[in-house]
Formats: sequence, structure tokens, C-alpha cells
Amino acid sequence: MARKPVIFGNWKMNKLRSEAEAFFQGVEPHLTGEEKADYGVGTPFTCLDVAVKNAKVLKVAAENCNEKDSGAYTGEVSVPMIQEIGAGYCIIGHSERRTYYAETDAHCAAKAKRLLDAGIVPILCVGETEAEYDAGKTAEVVKAELAGSLAGLTAEEVGKIIIAYEPIWAIGTGKSADKQTAQDCCKLCRDTVRDLFGEDAAEAVRIQYGGSVKPINIAEYMACPDIDGALIGGASLKVDSFLEIINATK
Ligand code: PGA
Repeated sequence: MARKPVIFGNWKMNKLRSEAEAFFQGVEPHLTGEEKADYGVGTPFTCLDVAVKNAKVLKVAAENCNEKDSGAYTGEVSVPMIQEIGAGYCIIGHSERRTYYAETDAHCAAKAKRLLDAGIVPILCVGETEAEYDAGKTAEVVKAELAGSLAGLTAEEVGKIIIAYEPIWAIGTGKSADKQTAQDCCKLCRDTVRDLFGEDAAEAVRIQYGGSVKPINIAEYMACPDIDGALIGGASLKVDSFLEIINATK
């Protein structure tokens, strides 16, 4: 089964609404809707409605959600709120959220379930720290994150999600994983899904590499058999570099 490539920007805590509007208006005229890949961006909550309004071909992702629908959780945003705005995707378990906001695998599993129930595609991030990489613990860490973060989902649900393998040492550092390492780790993610959920889920699940992806290196990642796309931070902030990435993957 052919998997449709999927490239997402992740703006993190960047861009005002006016800047988000300018970005979409800069990128959209270059897209026809006939592209062979899905392209989208994750935006701050405050930009989501502007993004959805200006997105014709581009997909829109929230960067986080709460697993509960409503209640006394000051500052949180629920899945029904994201659904009402019209974002079709949501990043969960990004290493910045795991590190700074104590997001756990159990949170990810609950968020993934709630998103899937709402018809929103979770983009689940996993990846090891530099110390874990140096200690040869990548496989152990990634397998445990996947097992914990996908717990309770059905094989069919897992086939619908996007997994972003992002080694923490490569995020925002310019020290991208070489293509063999990225391929091996994305294959590890697929093999883990196969072990836990079976062949159909493993064949269907789309797996991205993330960590210092740039216009200059995107094509070599996309040529790897187990890499179906990329999650891109810094290089997704400017119209020009995002368009270069799109052009390199068309
Ligand atoms: P980067 O970020 O492309 O700036 O390394 C990737 C990410 O955090 O998703």
C-alpha cells in the first residue's frame, strides 16, 4: 500500500496572527491541490482560526491539546475546541512538551484517543536525548515511548496516525541525523508498530523524521523507504524556505 508523504511545519511559540496570515497567503498560491504529498503547519492556538481561514491546500495542526473535554483546567485547550476551529491535525508529545511541561506517554495515549474520536489526526512525537543516544539506548527509549503513547488504541486507529521520530539532539541544533540513522530509527518505529498492532497498521502508519530538516537535506530523507515525511521547525517559519522544501518534495 502506498503511503501519501506528509510534510508538516511546526511553528512552536512563533508568529502573530498577522504573520500567520502572511505566511498562508505567501505559500498557498504555489499549491494546486494536486501535489503527491500532504503539506501543513502546526500553529499556536491563537493563529489556528487565521490558518484555517487562509488554508486552501495546506493542512492545519494544533501543537497540543488537553485530553479532557472541559472543566477546571486553567489555560488548557480541549479537542472539541480545536475541532470547532477546524484544524484537522494535532501534534502531541513533542519533546519540548515532554521536557518543559511534563507530558507523559499516558497523556499522549489519552490525547491520541480523544483526537481520533474527533476525527483529528494525531502527530505523535518520539525520540531520544543525546545522552540516551550516546549510551546506545535509542531503540529502548523509542519502543517504550511508542508502547506507552499508543496504549489503548486499536490497530485501525494506529494506522491513521502520524508518528514523528525526532531525536532530541537534532532539534533546533543544525545537527540533523544522517539519513541512515533517520531511516533506521523510522524503521524501528514501523517495526514496533508491527509488533504491537500488526502488519496492516505498520504498513499504513505514516512516519516522519524531524530534527534540523532543511531545504538542502529534505530530499535525501524522503528517499528512504521508511521515512514518509518530515516535521520541520525552524525551516518552516519563512515562506521561502517552506516553499523550497515543498519544491524539493514535489
Ligand atoms: P527543527 O525542529 O526543525 O527546528 O530542528 C523540529 C521540531 O521540533 O519539530
